[in-house]
Amino acid sequence: MIASLENRKRLGQVFTPEKVASALVRWAIRRETDQLLDPSCGDGRFLALHRTSTGIELDPLNVALARERACRATVYGEEFFQWASKTSCRFEAAAGNPPFIRYQHFSGETRQLALKLAANLGVKINGLASSWASFLVVTAGLLKQGGRMAFVVPAEIGHAPYASPVVSFLCSRFTRVRIVAIRENIFAPLSEAAWLLFAEEFGGSTKFIELSLFDKFSAFTWTDKPTKKIAISSWQHEGSRLRKFLLPNYALSTYQSIARRSGVSRFGEIAHAGIGYVSGANDFFHLAPSEAKHLGISKDFLRFAIRRSRQLPAERVDRQAVKRWISQDEPMMLLYLNNSKKLPREVLAYLNSSKGQEVRRGYKCRHRDPWYEIPDVRVPDAFMSYMSGKKPSLVRNDEGCVCTNSVHAVFRKNGISVRAIQQAWSHPLVDLSCELEGHPLGGGMLKLEPGEASNVLIPINNPKVTASETEILKEATAEMRGWRNYA
Ligand SMILES: C[S@@+](CC[C@H](N)C(=O)[O-])C[C@H]1O[C@@H](n2cnc3c(N)ncnc32)[C@H](O)[C@@H]1O
Repeated sequence: MIASLENRKRLGQVFTPEKVASALVRWAIRRETDQLLDPSCGDGRFLALHRTSTGIELDPLNVALARERACRATVYGEEFFQWASKTSCRFEAAAGNPPFIRYQHFSGETRQLALKLAANLGVKINGLASSWASFLVVTAGLLKQGGRMAFVVPAEIGHAPYASPVVSFLCSRFTRVRIVAIRENIFAPLSEAAWLLFAEEFGGSTKFIELSLFDKFSAFTWTDKPTKKIAISSWQHEGSRLRKFLLPNYALSTYQSIARRSGVSRFGEIAHAGIGYVSGANDFFHLAPSEAKHLGISKDFLRFAIRRSRQLPAERVDRQAVKRWISQDEPMMLLYLNNSKKLPREVLAYLNSSKGQEVRRGYKCRHRDPWYEIPDVRVPDAFMSYMSGKKPSLVRNDEGCVCTNSVHAVFRKNGISVRAIQQAWSHPLVDLSCELEGHPLGGGMLKLEPGEASNVLIPINNPKVTASETEILKEATAEMRGWRNYA
C-alpha cells in the first residue's frame, strides 16, 4: 500500500531513518514499564521499538501498517488534536517525528483546535506556525510529572519566529532542554534539514537551552556533554535565534562586539527592503518588446521590470542592461495602467483578448478594481536578491525600473546614498550578518525576508574592524555557509 505523493505531502509524511528512531526511543524510555506516546506514528516504527506504546495516526494506510509492524501497541486511527482533547491517558515518554506541514496547508478545524490546546497550556502559537510546533506543545501536555520527550524537529526551530514561544514553553516546563543540530541532512535526499529535540523531567524548568552540534547523526550520543549551554536571556538577546549559536563562542562575541561599535547600523536604519508588486498573472502583464510592438502598445504604458533575481547585473541596472533585455526580446515590460484616464484602443484590445478574459478571473485580478491596475508598483533605489547561493546582492537602480516580488525593492532612508550602502554591503561583516539574520532554505540556498534584511548589520560609517577580526568574520561566514550546505 503506497499513499499518493500528494497525500504524503499534505500529511507531512516523511519517515524517520531507523537509527534515528531507535536513538530517540532508547533515550526516552527509562523503564520497561514506561508508556510511550508517538502522536503521529506513521508506519509505527517508533512504536515497534517499545512494548507498551500508543500511537495516533490520521492516515488509514499508515494505521494498518503501524498495527502490523507494532502488534503490541495501541494504535488510534484518529486526528491527534481531537484525540488529545478527550484522552485522559498520560505518558512517561513521548518520541516521534511530527508532521512538518506549513501554515498554508495546516488549516481549518484541526489548526483551530491545535492552537486552542496549545493556548490552554499557556503557549500562544501564531498563525504562521508549521504543524510541528503545536504537536510538540500538546504532546508535552500529555506527559506525566517527570516525563521526557525526544523528537525530530525541523532546523527552522533555530530561526523561525514562531518557534520562539515553543522553545520558551519547553524551558518553562522541563528541567533540561537540549537541541541537537546536525549538519548532514538526516532525511537525505529531501532538502528540509532536521535537528533533534530532547526535553527531560516534565514539571521542572530551566534557564538554559543546551545545544549540541554534530556533523553527522552517527557521531552523537545523548550522554555527551552539551557543546553549549545558552542562557535563555542570551538567546532572547539574539532575537531568539539559536542559529547564531552554531558559531564558535569567540566568533559570536566578535560579531556582537562589532555590532555595538559606532559606525555600524542595522540595514533597517538606513534603508527599507520590502517586497515588489504582485501582478497575479506575470505572463500576461509583462510583454516582450516585439510583442508590445506587434500589439501597438505605446511605451507610455510600459515600465521595465525586474522579474527574477538572475536578471540583475552585479552592480547596477543601467542603460546597457536595459538595452541587453531589449536585444534579447525578454518579456520584462510591465503593462502599467494605473491612473490612466483613457485607455487607448490597442490596450483595450489586449485587455479584452481571450487571454485577458481568462486572467481577470484569477484570484488577484478579481479582487481588485479595476482588475488590470497593479498596486505597489514603485521605483526603488535598489534591488536586493533575497534568495541567494553565496550572498544576497544589492543592485543600484539607475534606470527607473520596477520589480515584482521576486526581489526586494530597497528604498534608502535619511539621505544616505545608494553607493555608500553598496560599498558597505561588500564588507565581510555583512556577509556574516546575512548568514545569521537570514535563514537556510534547503539546497544550499540562503533566504533573507524583509524583516531579516532590516536586521543585517552594515558598517556604514567606517567602524574600526581589525585585520584579525576580519579574519574571524570570514571564517565564521564559511562556517555558517557549511551549516546550510552551501558547496
Ligand atoms: C513525519 S511523519 C512521521 C511518521 C513516523 N513517526 C516516522 O517518523 O517515521 C508524520 C505522520 O503524521 C501523520 N499525521 C499528519 N497529520 C496528522 C494529524 N493531525 N493527526 C495524526 N496524524 C497525523 C501523517 O500521516 C504521517 O504519517
